[in-house]
Amino acid sequence: MFRAAVLSALAVSPALSQQLFDQPVIGVLTFPDSSMLPPYTSFFDSSYVKWIEQSGARVAPIRFDMSSEDLAALFPQLNGILFTGGAGMPEDNDAYFSTASRLWELVQEDSETVPLWGTCLGFEMFATLWGKGEDNVLSDFDAENLALPLGFTADSKSSKLFSPSTVPEDVYETLGTQNVTTNWHTYGVSVDTFEKVLAPQGLVALTTNEDREGKVFVSSMEHESAPFYAVQWHPESNQFDTTDKHGDATPDRSVEGVAAMQYMSHFLVGEARKNAKTFESEDAFKAIVLGQLQDDVATDGCSTMVVTLSGDRAQVDEKTAAAFIQAVGVYLEELAMMMV
Ligand SMILES: *[C@@H]1O[C@H](CO)[C@@H](O)[C@H](O)[C@H]1NC(C)=O
Repeated sequence: MFRAAVLSALAVSPALSQQLFDQPVIGVLTFPDSSMLPPYTSFFDSSYVKWIEQSGARVAPIRFDMSSEDLAALFPQLNGILFTGGAGMPEDNDAYFSTASRLWELVQEDSETVPLWGTCLGFEMFATLWGKGEDNVLSDFDAENLALPLGFTADSKSSKLFSPSTVPEDVYETLGTQNVTTNWHTYGVSVDTFEKVLAPQGLVALTTNEDREGKVFVSSMEHESAPFYAVQWHPESNQFDTTDKHGDATPDRSVEGVAAMQYMSHFLVGEARKNAKTFESEDAFKAIVLGQLQDDVATDGCSTMVVTLSGDRAQVDEKTAAAFIQAVGVYLEELAMMMV
């Protein structure tokens, strides 16, 4: 239905066809390696790459430790931006948070044509950035290993992401009734906080869910006018993550579940196709990607895209280094106690 709608729009509107581009590139912000041991790397799970590629786009890594000059040069070539999931809270790593903040400013300065998507920690990044200055935008939820159907809000009916007139009927039905959305988070945004802090910033709550204790969190949101979307669940998980990775939460691999998650990536890439940004040349694109992305199939059967930090950039940020030194200290103390 979605495809049919796009094709008929193309048929009646030559102007629109000129605005749709064949090979959009989505920039994916890398996440700092938490092992705190050299060689320091940044990474994202390759499920995010596959999720984007299945809809016809390509991926360029945006290294979390990029200089602002390099970022300013890369950004105008990207058709969309993705903040992936990851461990901890958005502000735990200074360099990561600062690059995310800069991207957030850039998409807003950019006449609001570049889609920004947040998944899980990326959703929490949305909340932290738009709720800036407010304490406790995020609160604790018991929602790890939890597969749920989405509870659509009244506002979702007129939304971009979940309007029943644009989402294929079967996908809408699946999302709203089946346990297809995989939750893997211990933080979230309560409905009260959303209304108080994020709604005044132009964000709209599209779906809500309950955690194991019955506490309600906002599970999907979008910006009222700009193409900015975030989900607390994992639309890349159903097709590309294994049971091992998520413990007990087997991502729903039914035909319906997979189709619903494919719809999500088609939507994001569809938004990215609407702007005319492009790399200067294929070589310019390759210069960003080649030698950076390395598909590393881990023992859990999931592959991870490892983005290796080169040369003088291979330094861990101060906060992480301090945490590592402290952890080693505690370990040595415990060892000393055991030996007494
Ligand atoms: C979804 O999972 C819950 C348990 O977490 C279960 O009680 C419920 O019946 C499931 N719903 C569907 C439609 O499978």
